[in-house]
Amino acid sequence: MGRAAISKKERGVIDMWVADPAFKTDPKIVEAFRYAVRHGCTHYFPAPGFDPNVFQKAVAKHYRRARGCTIDPLTEIVPTHGAQEALSLSVQAAARPGDEVLIPEPTYNVFIEKLEGFGVKPVLVPLLEKERWRIDFDSVKSAITGKTRLIFICNPNNPTGTLCGSKDMEELSDILTENRNVSVILDECYSRMLYGGAEHHSLLGERELMDQVYVVNSFSKTYAMTGWRLGYVVAARKNADRIKQISFEYNGGVAYSVQYAGAVALEKCSGSVRKMHAELRMRRDAMLAGLRELKDVAFVTPDGGFEVFADFSSYTSDSESFVRALEDEARVKTMPGRKYGPSGEGHVRFVFCSNTAERIREGTSRVGAWLEDQ
Ligand SMILES: Cc1ncc(COP(=O)(O)O)c(C=O)c1O
Repeated sequence: MGRAAISKKERGVIDMWVADPAFKTDPKIVEAFRYAVRHGCTHYFPAPGFDPNVFQKAVAKHYRRARGCTIDPLTEIVPTHGAQEALSLSVQAAARPGDEVLIPEPTYNVFIEKLEGFGVKPVLVPLLEKERWRIDFDSVKSAITGKTRLIFICNPNNPTGTLCGSKDMEELSDILTENRNVSVILDECYSRMLYGGAEHHSLLGERELMDQVYVVNSFSKTYAMTGWRLGYVVAARKNADRIKQISFEYNGGVAYSVQYAGAVALEKCSGSVRKMHAELRMRRDAMLAGLRELKDVAFVTPDGGFEVFADFSSYTSDSESFVRALEDEARVKTMPGRKYGPSGEGHVRFVFCSNTAERIREGTSRVGAWLEDQ
């Protein structure tokens, strides 16, 4: 354990900053991994008797079952090292240095940060906070230039927890139809972590837009598999081929044993997903109840994801120093809203997946007591 971690533990800091679900990976997934390794899947190719496309077939079957859409497992699905790699590969497949990516913000900061490394320019479009952080598609449309190659949409959005509705998807679809040289990356990592009967909408399966759509997903959140580094991209064959080629050049692809475990997750672990989801609902409720107690703090109830993005602008216009003080003095570690884009300034992101409901209550009451002293 590092020194920083030890001192944090000694001081009893409650971590509400990393969206790493504090649940064990289902033992069926662990056993599948061990089975593959024990039976010789420790080489470039899977051992005889193992289906090389077991993962892609499981993903395609999942989408057929869950959303009724047909995706070709052999040509349109690429396994990746988590959604992180899936996002990087999609950007590289779709954009060149000097191109622009439109990003409704606040949103997943790591995506914004990685663009610099590819020489691609983020063009930020503020979400409409007063309308539940809705995407302003008129602004997205007017921000399109000759250099725009991509739009990034995180749905449900981290950190705001809001979902795109069917009308949003229609507007996006119109934009893509009118701008055939613009594509969209749909980050759907939280698409199965929804609350209060919310429904997920996507462009996945819209064949006439397939050439312009990259759907990114991950096993990290749904199956509590953050350390396994498993995700995937769904894209049209020509884009998927490019992604496979870049991925192969980087790292030769995802270990077969991990892919095999992922297939078992999709096929056999819906029970543990349901259990985790029920517990997450309780943790979310505890977080919402705790935040409601805080004076002059507002927030949009999240439809999905693991986070609540709360407005502390009555207290601060510098969220970075505010969360530093929260950690040092209230002993609650959170993320500054500014990190997710300029429109996130004055906000604080609270993660509810990584602590029990009781610990969450303790965390929010520490924040409340601290605010009273300000
Ligand atoms: C919206 C979103 N996309 C992608 C990721 C990265 O996920 P992975 O662990 O699969 O790389 C995260 C992780 O926090 C996330 O919140």
